[in-house]
Amino acid sequence: MSGYDPKVTPWAVKAEPLPTTSKVAQMAFLLRFAILAPSTHNTQPWKFAIGPLGHEDIFIYADWSRWLNVADADQRELHLSLGCALENLLVAAEHYGFAHQVRYFPRPVDETLVAQVRLSEGGAPSEHRKGLFDAIPARHTNHQRYAHRMVEPHALAALQAVVVEPGVRLFLSADDELRRRVDELTIEADLRQFADPEFRRELAHWIGEGAYGASWLLAKLGAIATRQLTPGPLAARRDAELLLSAPVFGVITATPNTPTMQVIAGQAYERVHLKATALGLSMQPMNQALQVPEVKARLTGALPLGPTAPQMLFRLGYAQPEAEHTPRRPLEAVLM
Ligand SMILES: Cc1cc2nc3c(=O)[nH]c(=O)nc-3n(C[C@H](O)[C@H](O)[C@H](O)COP(=O)(O)O)c2cc1C
Repeated sequence: MSGYDPKVTPWAVKAEPLPTTSKVAQMAFLLRFAILAPSTHNTQPWKFAIGPLGHEDIFIYADWSRWLNVADADQRELHLSLGCALENLLVAAEHYGFAHQVRYFPRPVDETLVAQVRLSEGGAPSEHRKGLFDAIPARHTNHQRYAHRMVEPHALAALQAVVVEPGVRLFLSADDELRRRVDELTIEADLRQFADPEFRRELAHWIGEGAYGASWLLAKLGAIATRQLTPGPLAARRDAELLLSAPVFGVITATPNTPTMQVIAGQAYERVHLKATALGLSMQPMNQALQVPEVKARLTGALPLGPTAPQMLFRLGYAQPEAEHTPRRPLEAVLM
């Protein structure tokens, strides 16, 4: 049973006012923004609980039945995805005037409880979340060819400015040599993953669930088929040109490499993506090279990141928007 209903379009939620009926209704309303977050393979590996009565608490749980145990063996991307949902929740909470306090993994005996968010009245948007709210329903991952247009230095600086957490860093580069190296390692990771029947089985499962938009899938399969079926320097160059069309690539890193820091890195990624959306920029995570341990080690060695752990790799630039959003499970399906 798929759980995805393409007819549900939660993206319109921005137009609705905050309900006044009850605190519970308000918290449920805010969660409608959380579920618009990006997630690895659009698995949406989250569940939420509200309460107990008398407290404005939202609990964010990992749904391990939606964990990609082949592509994401160390659960890094699961935690990043949960961080993205948490960040959307905080941006929306601040927009509607709530202050918030977050505790990560607040119950050491329960690893599925990833965060507890306590809301209270009287908050205002913090400097690094200002102006991001409208971008929540507008943001999407863009898989298309990016334009030959450099990202302006002020835009890059604005993206840097929203990454504020100690231990989390945003590395941005337009260096051709580095981009080519990242591209080579991405292609190698893609080919290795597609050669693995377990990886293909996992991917097929999520395709069957209807998690992907058609454009992502066609782009991905088309690229792989081209790489495998048309060897030779000309075809390889054409392929590389498509991948390298984005003028900038970025990496979010975190130290130490713990589940809590991975959730926080996910929050930073989502803020960068929202800021990029607000600036008219497109982004696409390209994490294959981080999913294959040997390739990840070489990538880490190739980039001047210092002693830290890369969490998320992405390309950045200008592109035509995607035709449609990827589907979301309705809030009712993820609210316990
Ligand atoms: C942790 C994480 C890893 C991701 N990795 C990739 C990736 O390697 N390649 C890709 O095309 N998209 C990747 N994505 C983007 C998701 O596929 C995308 O968020 C999801 O399909 C929902 O679509 P949307 O972002 O347009 O809302 C990743 C997203 C997250 C949060």
